[in-house]
Amino acid sequence: MAFLADSLARIKPSATIAVTNKARELKAAGRDVIGLGAGEPDFDTPENIKEAAIAAIREGKTKYTAVDGIPELKAAISAKFKRENNLTYAPNQITVGTGGKQVLYNALMATLNPGDEVIIPAPYWVSYPEIVALGGGTPVEIVGPQSSGFKIGPEALEAAITPKTKWLILNSPSNPSGAGYTRTELRALADVLLKYPQVWIMTDDMYEHLVFDGFEFSTIAEVEPKLYDRTLTVNGVSKAYAMTGWRIGYAGGPVELIKAIGTIQSQSTSNPSSISQWAAVEALNGPQDYIPKNAEIFKKRRDLVVSMLNQANGIVCPNPEGAFYVFPSCAGTLGKTTAGGKLLKTDEDFVTALLEEEGVAVVQGSAFGLAPYFRISYATSTEALEEACTRIQRFCGNLR
Ligand SMILES: Cc1ncc(COP(=O)(O)O)c(C=O)c1O
Repeated sequence: MAFLADSLARIKPSATIAVTNKARELKAAGRDVIGLGAGEPDFDTPENIKEAAIAAIREGKTKYTAVDGIPELKAAISAKFKRENNLTYAPNQITVGTGGKQVLYNALMATLNPGDEVIIPAPYWVSYPEIVALGGGTPVEIVGPQSSGFKIGPEALEAAITPKTKWLILNSPSNPSGAGYTRTELRALADVLLKYPQVWIMTDDMYEHLVFDGFEFSTIAEVEPKLYDRTLTVNGVSKAYAMTGWRIGYAGGPVELIKAIGTIQSQSTSNPSSISQWAAVEALNGPQDYIPKNAEIFKKRRDLVVSMLNQANGIVCPNPEGAFYVFPSCAGTLGKTTAGGKLLKTDEDFVTALLEEEGVAVVQGSAFGLAPYFRISYATSTEALEEACTRIQRFCGNLR
């Protein structure tokens, strides 16, 4: 339609939201559907955080705030970066947005010029290439293959860098693969980045606290302090504190960039919800003991899902370091026909037939830039996961 902006033609709506909606529709129509598409913890927001929000309302903390966050939240974020990441960010180096997504969006809008390239390791979170394209930049995808745990190495990174490269986006643990980069692996990437001072690093550490089996989370500005001046360290409360609906994300970075992010935000949403900001202060300053407890629950679910999927014909499921996703290969099912008579040619065929025939909603790997795979979010009850994996086993067992 001529009325719509040209930029809209460059992007597509989120595949993960599309699957969630389709599952919701089928459920509303009375179908027995297990949704494993959504990327949010099934846990409730902890009581102390809810109480802080209720107190904020009662105390009248319901007005506009500084666009990029109240001083109390910036102080809590600064303390968090020091305590957990050994990174020093002063309040004027911190910005708070309506979710980590808005912070990433603003950072790209504030920096991209037409033709600027952004290196995005695949499989990637669906929004990165779309936001880059919306901002007029060029996403440059490099594959982290299954054989290297879905991670990129220094050679692949160096080969992708051109004089037009503006950003590298890192996301560890990763959505969708759950892959986590070790300190040594980040060190190797940092050594390449030190040679190319024009490249900035946007590190999305949203799943920092969801790591298993003693995996130690690291973030690149801490691994290589020489990159601190060109790194934006993005994080948020959505995943660690089960606060997806509250919409608070934040970042630490160089003053000039942080200011530019605030400028973009000042002309769109202004401040994130004042009530949510007070809730986030409590999340970051309050007790942290449920974080490892939740991670332990996620680990048990991961173990269950990985084990059950590896018993399904034609599925190979690697064991990821973190987040709450697994990213199994369905290569062994392609070329076969389902019980319902559908020939599976792609991972999209696989997930469509799985939803129609067994009522299990997952997302095709191609949406995350790597096929033939699919993503399962195991942030749901153990019973639902057992039932879903049993159905996947039956679906695969019936392939001919
Ligand atoms: C890798 C990654 N980054 C960022 C986000 C956005 O999180 P928020 O809820 O803070 O906007 C998500 C949410 O799914 C994510 O998976």
